[in-house]
Amino acid sequence: MRFEEMWNGLAPVGRSAAGGGYFRQPFGSAERECHAWFLDECARRDLDVEHDGNGNAVAWWAPWEAEPGAVLTGSHLDSVLDGGAYDGPLGVVTALAAVDLLREQGFAPSRRIGIGAFVEEEGSRFGIACLGSRLAAGAITPEAARELRDRDGVALADAMSASGINPELGRSAILDGVGCFVELHVEQGRDLVHRDAAIGVASTIWPHGRFRFDFTGAANHAGTTRMEDRSDPMLTYAMTALAANKQARVAGQRATFGRVEVAPNGTNAIPSRVTAWLDARCESDEQLEALVDAIARQGSERAGRDGTRLTVTDESVSGAVTFDSDLAGRLSLVLGGVPVIPTMAGHDAGILSAAGIPTAMLFVRNPTGISHSPEEHAPMADCLAGVEALAATLRELAG
Ligand code: HGY
Ligand code: MN
Ligand code: MN
Repeated sequence: MRFEEMWNGLAPVGRSAAGGGYFRQPFGSAERECHAWFLDECARRDLDVEHDGNGNAVAWWAPWEAEPGAVLTGSHLDSVLDGGAYDGPLGVVTALAAVDLLREQGFAPSRRIGIGAFVEEEGSRFGIACLGSRLAAGAITPEAARELRDRDGVALADAMSASGINPELGRSAILDGVGCFVELHVEQGRDLVHRDAAIGVASTIWPHGRFRFDFTGAANHAGTTRMEDRSDPMLTYAMTALAANKQARVAGQRATFGRVEVAPNGTNAIPSRVTAWLDARCESDEQLEALVDAIARQGSERAGRDGTRLTVTDESVSGAVTFDSDLAGRLSLVLGGVPVIPTMAGHDAGILSAAGIPTAMLFVRNPTGISHSPEEHAPMADCLAGVEALAATLRELAG
């Protein structure tokens, strides 16, 4: 089937020779190669591609006389640093294969069907989750986006220009006329394994956010400074990371420090600054606020004892999402009574849902549940079940 051929064609792009993980950061060469691959596949299918000034693209299969309310599907092509093959691309490649299948079946849509490729979903380069869909939906202002810099200090607009895109940041026309959005995604947990189901439908997304913790102290000599005389921000960070873990465990929530920068990062000097990013996720918006407040409070108390300072900045917060329950129920039935399950991972679908577009998600079983890792996997048979499920969904919604 075409899915397998496409999947194998995309697989080497951005894969590290060392560990097999993917590095497909937005507007970098591997991600651009994925994007070019997508455009080639769309051209092969005579789909009309619409680009926006944020780096997003939608490929349209449009009937001569379309009824209002286009059906949008697709996902993203970027990855986290050292990520897996499936998170994002699975939703794009299954969408192309689902269009092929529908055409083979002689299906004539009465609504436009679009395949979207949203840019910087992971926020791996500019720090804001789902940046492309947020910009397109008007969920972040162009002014705020223009301030974003990557780790090397490159501005978003400059990164776009350098990769040949004319940046026109902000709400875009690609979402005009969209009646609903359905994103297929690899499951990032084992709920479907436990339920013995290859496919599921999403019910909710946990609220989640990224918070920058800046710990500042005083640089000094690692040998000559007595332990009693130090203002060491590394200690405050270490205690805060332990406190975050404990706090989240006790509350049944999630707290992760996955990224740290140390200045000046020398072995024989007490650091002057540690910056660490907290990823926190909870069942409700109130719990998320309470969790982050509790971690920040414990960090500040510790800073008082260490003679350091802590400031906390919200960088990217996504509120709770409850997907359209009628749509979820309808798709579950169309797909033969598949389970409707929550997720703790963020998605462009969450942004579009919050923007008022009726939205659903399909999940494909992941035997280990591992994601954001080279180990992320979905069996080919389940991916093909995903193609069938997405085709059935598009038939239902665009027929
Ligand atoms: O980080 C997330 O939850 C998503 O995978 N982008
Ligand atoms: Mn992801
Ligand atoms: Mn994803």
